[in-house]
Amino acid sequence: MSALTEGTSPAMPPAPSPVHLADYTPPPWLVDIVTLDVQLAPTATRVTAKTKLKPNPEAAATTSIGLDGERMQLISVSLDGQLLGCDAYTVSESKLTLHDVTAEPHELVIESECDPQANTSLTGLYRSNGVYCTQCEAEGFRRITYFPDRPDVLAIYTVRLEADKTECPILLANGNQVAQGDLADGRHFAEWHDPHPKPAYLFAMVAGDLDCVSDSFTTMSGRDVALGIYVEHGKADRTAYAMDSLKRSMRWDEEVFGREYDLDVFNIVAVSDFNMGAMENKGLNVFNDKYILVRPDTATDADYANVEAIIAHEYFHNWSGNRVTCRDWFQLCLKEGLTVFRDQEFSSDMRSRPVKRIADVKTLRAHQYPEDAGPLAHPVRPSSYIEINNFYTATVYEKGAEVVRMLKTLIGPDAFRNGMDAYFEKNDGRAATVEDFISAMEDASGRDLAQFKRWYDQAGTPELVVSGKYSPIDETFDLTVAQSTAPTPGQSAKAPLHIPLAMGLIGKDGTSLPLHLSDTNTDGDAETQTVVELTGYEQTFTFEKVTSPPVLSVLRGFSAPVKLTTNGGDKDWLFRMAHDPDPCARWEAGQTYARELLVNITRAMSAGDRPRRGTRYADALRHVLEDDSLEPAFAAMMLDLPGEAELAQHIGQNVDADAVHNARKHLQSAVADQLGDLLLDRYSQLQSNAAYSPDADQAGRRALKNACLRLYAGLGNENSARIAAVQFSSANNMTDMEAALATLTHMQREERQTAFDAFYERAAGDPLLLDKWFSLQAMSSRTDTRQAVEALMDHSDFSMKRPNTVRSLIGVFAGSNPVRFHAGDGSGYRLLTQVVRDLDPINPQVAARLLGTLKSWRVYDDARKSEAVRSVGDLLDGGKLSEDVYEIATRMIA
Ligand code: TRP
Ligand code: ZN
Repeated sequence: MSALTEGTSPAMPPAPSPVHLADYTPPPWLVDIVTLDVQLAPTATRVTAKTKLKPNPEAAATTSIGLDGERMQLISVSLDGQLLGCDAYTVSESKLTLHDVTAEPHELVIESECDPQANTSLTGLYRSNGVYCTQCEAEGFRRITYFPDRPDVLAIYTVRLEADKTECPILLANGNQVAQGDLADGRHFAEWHDPHPKPAYLFAMVAGDLDCVSDSFTTMSGRDVALGIYVEHGKADRTAYAMDSLKRSMRWDEEVFGREYDLDVFNIVAVSDFNMGAMENKGLNVFNDKYILVRPDTATDADYANVEAIIAHEYFHNWSGNRVTCRDWFQLCLKEGLTVFRDQEFSSDMRSRPVKRIADVKTLRAHQYPEDAGPLAHPVRPSSYIEINNFYTATVYEKGAEVVRMLKTLIGPDAFRNGMDAYFEKNDGRAATVEDFISAMEDASGRDLAQFKRWYDQAGTPELVVSGKYSPIDETFDLTVAQSTAPTPGQSAKAPLHIPLAMGLIGKDGTSLPLHLSDTNTDGDAETQTVVELTGYEQTFTFEKVTSPPVLSVLRGFSAPVKLTTNGGDKDWLFRMAHDPDPCARWEAGQTYARELLVNITRAMSAGDRPRRGTRYADALRHVLEDDSLEPAFAAMMLDLPGEAELAQHIGQNVDADAVHNARKHLQSAVADQLGDLLLDRYSQLQSNAAYSPDADQAGRRALKNACLRLYAGLGNENSARIAAVQFSSANNMTDMEAALATLTHMQREERQTAFDAFYERAAGDPLLLDKWFSLQAMSSRTDTRQAVEALMDHSDFSMKRPNTVRSLIGVFAGSNPVRFHAGDGSGYRLLTQVVRDLDPINPQVAARLLGTLKSWRVYDDARKSEAVRSVGDLLDGGKLSEDVYEIATRMIA
């Protein structure tokens, strides 16, 4: 038998095995109380963990205790006061198992050591610029101590931190501080207690020499909460907007969801080395400092908007995620989709709702649709994973938020709010599932959501074919909708989904027509907008009393995350681009028209035919530019052509990245040619000497001004270079400065180099500014960009150990520069997979995420496809990979 095993798999390491949702079983042991003692030291931090365990009455009986633990040195194990000998337990790379344990409560004390200084994976306990910090979601706590590291084990934590007082004057952990004091040898300690039971993934501690910015908030029941934002020295003057956003988030959650904060302290720490955006640890959020530190001269309007949204997101997790947590990691969307929905709503209330909705639709289409259409497609609630960190995706987050939004559309705002209240109430202090959420919504609305629930388990973006038929004799309008979803990996057959379609009918003069849906009682004043519910593969809805041929306006507010085809044609799109009363649908009309035009131009240019100049499109944009009644931020969005990646997706197969790039360039310059003076007029009118404010109105005017510049620069002439260079050198804020560089970066002109050199000087070693400098170069469509990126990897300010910098250079090149990344000779793919190979041993999480940028490779032509497969194949063949990268690489080319 051993001969056979050896024969079938020689030296190959065993393929990592997946975890399945269907295999869930409750934890055999529950933990009531955890007491941690942490002796911080750079290379040998000693952790003593005392836990009170008891058998779980809801689980099968067991005679052993299995604890997760990785990359630690086990020092000692005691059970009920008895030091255990080596024969009483087994330790492996990932587990500690205590044998022959009686089924009764026990007190376990485990001593272990870890090395934060050497931890470059940025999960568990690590150091960022000398600051000790932790990242436990999803499975990082097991690198701090041995523990049942799963979200359905909730315990009350007390943490005592001890460190050198000069090195770490600040000592933080979850909850409220209960003690502190000085010790011998220049050391000191602090003790923190968190009264709320929580899973280990919400544990956090921070120690270092940090500045603190303090403020306070009085909750709706009158309790005072001390707020603190901790940053590296010299950065306190960039925290005001984050603090203001925090206070607004706290108030908003009270007003809109009735949720009050539940501790006396809320702290935020900004660190420079961080795997993702931020983390919602109970009472101690840890942030990537790029989402805290903003000042007019260092951050753009988009940066400000991100700070506001992410502060809100992490704060909102206090209820959607922390008070009500997830039973297992398959339920990730339960906290993430819901919390994204909540932060989107917050930003909509703080800013312009339609503009925010369009921005979210753009994000969804740019990131989630390609995911759903490619080799990494998975349901909002996946059914299996090898490495859970690979499932913090646009599908779980953004599509997960769309699912919550659809639910609200279907059951209405009042039932939704009642359902949310009931969900929080019933599941408070518990680890819940998607089923718990859905059943709260069913109870609140009295509706059967069984079919709707398919959204959680079925991957792929549904495609809707919509056609309208007007009968002048009957004065009826038939709306026929058919749905289908293409197969995705592991799911070949797709069932029909329950889809809310918000729609209206527009008269030829642009007025909204009253809707009389047959079979419904619409006596009295008819509405001009309604939501029809698609549940079958194909359905027809008949509207009556339609006295003249209408224009159909469908998918208003982007009421469902679907792809839409209608039988309306160019005339309808142009009409709706000018008249649709729903801003989202109006924007969408312009995008659809431009997409079709660009596909047409791509084909014509490839066939050697003369491409269209987009005359009617330019006219439509002229009306947008001349219409003072439009919100500037909305007008800016109307001016933006669909991107190259989106076009490639839309074409769907055999794409030549160069052809798409050239077509887009052609249209941009044709439009700029037709609108030239008008663009310059608007550009000048929108100049302002007002002091910078990040508010939505001012930001919107800058967005429109810079959209005019961008479009005008499509001409690529001397004048556009000059205008951009002047804007760069005279700008009084980072938004205008960055917009100027984003224009200059594509040019082969002296002004470009001068500006980039000046920007580098100005950055003066500030990592956040240097990251902008890297990414603005990585996004250049110049033919020498790949070489430039390779050269920048040798720059002294580049480091593989800093995720932000890796993402700014390599992530932006691979994710935001389709024409150079998808180079026909495969050089872009080779660059990416080489970086992934080098980064993997340093930081597997970031390496895997970076590899994910390749997910759209299948839409390209055969030459590109074979280069992509070869690069990923070489990566897989080139030696042992982390489970993170292994999983993405194998799924990528499966
Ligand atoms: N839960 C975090 C959020 O969405 C994201 C997160 C998950 C994360 N895993 C992480 C952040 C690892 C940093 C590192 O708010
Ligand atoms: Zn989140």
